[in-house]
Amino acid sequence: MKQPSSSATELKKKDLKHMVSMKDFTKEETDEMFELMDILKDARRENAVPQLFKNKTVAMIFEAGSTRTRVSFEAAATLLGGHAQFLSPRDIHLGAKESIEDTARVLSRMTDIIMARTNNPETIDELTKHATVPVINGLDTRYHPTQMLADLYTIKEHMPAGKNLQDLTLAFMGDATDVCRSLLLTCTKYGMKFKQIGPQKYHMEQEWLDIADEICEETGGSYEITDDVEQVKECDVVYGDSFYWTTQLEEKDERLAAFMPDYVITDELMKKAKPGALLLHCLPANDQEEVTREALEGPYSVAFDEAENRLTAQMAILVYFTHKYIKEPDRETLDHFENKAKSFLKKL
Ligand code: CP
Repeated sequence: MKQPSSSATELKKKDLKHMVSMKDFTKEETDEMFELMDILKDARRENAVPQLFKNKTVAMIFEAGSTRTRVSFEAAATLLGGHAQFLSPRDIHLGAKESIEDTARVLSRMTDIIMARTNNPETIDELTKHATVPVINGLDTRYHPTQMLADLYTIKEHMPAGKNLQDLTLAFMGDATDVCRSLLLTCTKYGMKFKQIGPQKYHMEQEWLDIADEICEETGGSYEITDDVEQVKECDVVYGDSFYWTTQLEEKDERLAAFMPDYVITDELMKKAKPGALLLHCLPANDQEEVTREALEGPYSVAFDEAENRLTAQMAILVYFTHKYIKEPDRETLDHFENKAKSFLKKL
């Protein structure tokens, strides 16, 4: 007979939900996250962030480097009264000396939510399969949902009065990166128009377009994949990302030759877009490559508001995914255990 568990945590959580891709959330759920972001951003302005993650821990697994994702999750946990643990493959056994399954099960008994940036999407899938706390994808080769939440929120903050996200067209300039794929699925899920504008060789793979087709059928969103830079004329948002990733350094020269100068976000290109168009960039930016410094600092650029909204998003994510499982102790229970521990310690 299997021994009953002695865990002090709830191992079978009701309605446990992970955040792997924004396409897994309804518009209503995303709207709820936006509303929570509004409240927590206003609270941060007043230095009055409610302690909704008090004494809680987020385990942050980073197989790859990060500035925004790491710092925003860590700062969000602190602001909400909790703690973040940074875990690189040098610090834990992840997949090397211990299976992902066992890591997921152990972290779930000691922390309240797991955030992971992984080199292999199977790691995220394995974590979600075995964790008994929410798992947040902090970027894999398919999706970057925490970036997407901050991006749509930033667009909402800056879009013209009277407009809705569904009225907007977003142009992603360049390669079919993980951010580009995420934007295709997130924008169409939200009923927006999405365009990838880049050389044909680097267009989005069919498997992602097939997923987008299903989403568009459900939401009325649409997409277009083109090499025609002039199409930026129809766009309300122009989005930049690196033309090559750190794992593609051997292709760097070939890629730069394919993308530059036509697909670089310049002041001239921004002036071709719709009046009032915004420039977003997930950062880090190579400001002599995919975007000029002049454009990044231009009046239309909201790239640094977007970066700060990674923190707004992470505060909302920590609360949204854990609040159902956080038990608020009452004063009487707290006093009971404090008195019990103190009486015991006096005897030592
Ligand atoms: N945009 C983004 O994810 O930034 P980091 O790689 O610095 O986390």
